[in-house]
Amino acid sequence: MLQLELFEPRDIVSNNQSVVNVSSVPQRSPFRYAGGKTWLIPKIRQWLHYQGGAGKELIEPFAGGGIVSLTAACEGLVDRVTMVEKDQDVAAVWRVILNGGAEWLAESIVNFQLTAESAREAIDRANNSLEDRAFATIIKNRVNRGGILADGASFIKNGENGKGITSRWYPETLKRRILAIEQVKHKINFIEGDAFEVCEQNANNRNTVYFIDPPYIKAGGRLYRHSIIDHQALFDLVAKLKGDFLMTYDDDSEVHKMAGCNEFNTQLIAMKNTHHAKKTELIIGKSLEWLLPTIQ
Ligand SMILES: C[S@@+](CC[C@H](N)C(=O)[O-])C[C@H]1O[C@@H](n2cnc3c(N)ncnc32)[C@H](O)[C@@H]1O
Repeated sequence: MLQLELFEPRDIVSNNQSVVNVSSVPQRSPFRYAGGKTWLIPKIRQWLHYQGGAGKELIEPFAGGGIVSLTAACEGLVDRVTMVEKDQDVAAVWRVILNGGAEWLAESIVNFQLTAESAREAIDRANNSLEDRAFATIIKNRVNRGGILADGASFIKNGENGKGITSRWYPETLKRRILAIEQVKHKINFIEGDAFEVCEQNANNRNTVYFIDPPYIKAGGRLYRHSIIDHQALFDLVAKLKGDFLMTYDDDSEVHKMAGCNEFNTQLIAMKNTHHAKKTELIIGKSLEWLLPTIQ
């Protein structure tokens, strides 16, 4: 196994910062997503360019907020994108946006007067229809602390600048992002389903590449409704994929062991989290040679 040394990405950095600054990457997702990978986008672009784009399909089996899929579709980094997500609330948003409901959802957002009471009412209506579920999910994602959608998450209390529940409510921005996704929806296939099944079904396809960002071993539990997966089974499955993959994980000894057993390459990448603290995450691939030119 090639274990490259820790480095800090510098390719998009022009202001002497040594870690990728999330605000320097176009934010295209309507979600603010716990564990979101906006910070990794410069590396994703590098990886997908290396794959040679044309004729390739990208599968994102643990799609969540889908920033990787959206970037790949909007920037033409691959021909087709398939997103897979098991959480029915998150899935409802993607299903509505990608199946003709983008304009409705965008208008519903800009016409909504957000208060704690109206948020509660919208969330209570989630079971009425797919559209109501999608709208309720957007609201929850904006009013819950950290955007967390897992059951039991609570509303923001004071929020930014004492703005309380509206501190993360940017209706015009959400509208713009949703309508931009509508423009590329012909390139995106969404499956509400299981990551393992979809990867298994495509395992023999050499023109499919996979960005795999599962719930992590340590932090997953409090962040997602579906947070428990069989990590060993995921590594076994990934080892069978004919197409290339890029997987992200927490820097955990179990993960290093599973990567080592399969002779995968690993690389620690420095990032800033939402609290502007530096931390490192692990990326894993069959080969990470596409990273080498940027290593200091
Ligand atoms: C780490 S998050 C992905 C975040 C995403 N990369 C982003 O940038 O927003 C993992 C996601 O996997 C989903 N998930 C968990 N188990 C799954 C499964 N078996 N199949 C599909 N999705 C699953 C969770 O609901 C969660 O949204």
